[in-house]
Amino acid sequence: MDPTSFYNALAEGYHLIFADWAASRARQGALLDGLLREALGEGPKEVLDASCGIGTQALGLAALGHRVFASDLSPAAVARAEREAAAAGLRLSGLAVADLRTLSDQISQRFEAILSCDNSIPHLLEDAELAAAAHHLRAVLLPGGLLIATIRDYDAMEPRPGELVPTPVRVLGEGPARRLVFQVWTWSADGRSYEVEQFILQPQGEGWSTASARARYRALKRDELSRFLTAAGFHDVRWHMPEASGFYQPIVTARRPA
Ligand SMILES: C[S@@+](CC[C@H](N)C(=O)[O-])C[C@H]1O[C@@H](n2cnc3c(N)ncnc32)[C@H](O)[C@@H]1O
Repeated sequence: MDPTSFYNALAEGYHLIFADWAASRARQGALLDGLLREALGEGPKEVLDASCGIGTQALGLAALGHRVFASDLSPAAVARAEREAAAAGLRLSGLAVADLRTLSDQISQRFEAILSCDNSIPHLLEDAELAAAAHHLRAVLLPGGLLIATIRDYDAMEPRPGELVPTPVRVLGEGPARRLVFQVWTWSADGRSYEVEQFILQPQGEGWSTASARARYRALKRDELSRFLTAAGFHDVRWHMPEASGFYQPIVTARRPA
């Protein structure tokens, strides 16, 4: 399944992957707001969330007063982000279906900060796609602008080709909202990418209903991403690890030269 179909299929149930999506929005928004203030100073900023999904980070930051433009490859995810913003009484400065690989051709506005959070960039499997995305991430920034991206800690992972590798089952919610959430990973023979099957099981009658969808990720190492960012003209590329940042994934920040 290509990423568009994967996230279109998941969009309506995406919040079910979180124990409490509203709390995650608030927590992630506060943390990202801290990074924005540290790098760019106090006050609301013009931010593009370029892989917004259903709006986890975009809505978290909009709730704190930032002017957030939300874009994503998945039309269903963007439509849900728009609905969720309205439901929360929040205003997004713009919404668009746009691809990281062609972003600055699709969105004409330029921003003080750009986000791509929760392992979106590793959906780009080929070097040429990562190089294109790094170029466009820089091109949508104003001089001196800040990139914030988060990816899984692939440096800490041992590929396991030839096996079906399940992630731990999370039991989330209570009563009729109870659900089981887990993934099954299948690594490529060279250990450089893997296919994820995302499962969400919900009680139905005497049994369970199962929603599942598949997508491929590149096991992108931190040095690799740093090299693509530097080659695209970013400087001050810094990694913030979970122990120090309090975020659940490594965060990379980088600046467009002023
Ligand atoms: C794991 S989700 C994270 C969504 C959101 N940031 C969150 O944390 O809830 C990854 C997102 O990346 C988006 N994505 C994948 N490839 C993309 C691309 N080439 N351009 C833009 N978005 C992309 C997907 O559509 C999906 O919404």
